[in-house]
Amino acid sequence: MYVCVCNGVTERQIERAVQTGAARMRDLRLLLGVSAECGKCADCAQRCLRSALSGQEAGTATVDCMSNALQPSITMLTGETLEACAA
Ligand code: FES
Repeated sequence: MYVCVCNGVTERQIERAVQTGAARMRDLRLLLGVSAECGKCADCAQRCLRSALSGQEAGTATVDCMSNALQPSITMLTGETLEACAA
């Protein structure tokens, strides 16, 4: 699922960034560009970051940052619907 629409960043990319050492929003901004444009993804990215960090501590690899979040959808020109945090 997309977390940052402006930069096409997914929750999996955030999870991988955490696995390689990202631990703060600043790290995600520098590595992936999260929240560097409109900023609408900041809250969701923060939840994903926390989820990934807690999963890393618990030894699980699953990021579940979207379960309690509003998940607006974006209908692409192709008719494909994407779910995203920031829309
Ligand atoms: S900067 Fe992430 S959605 Fe705009």
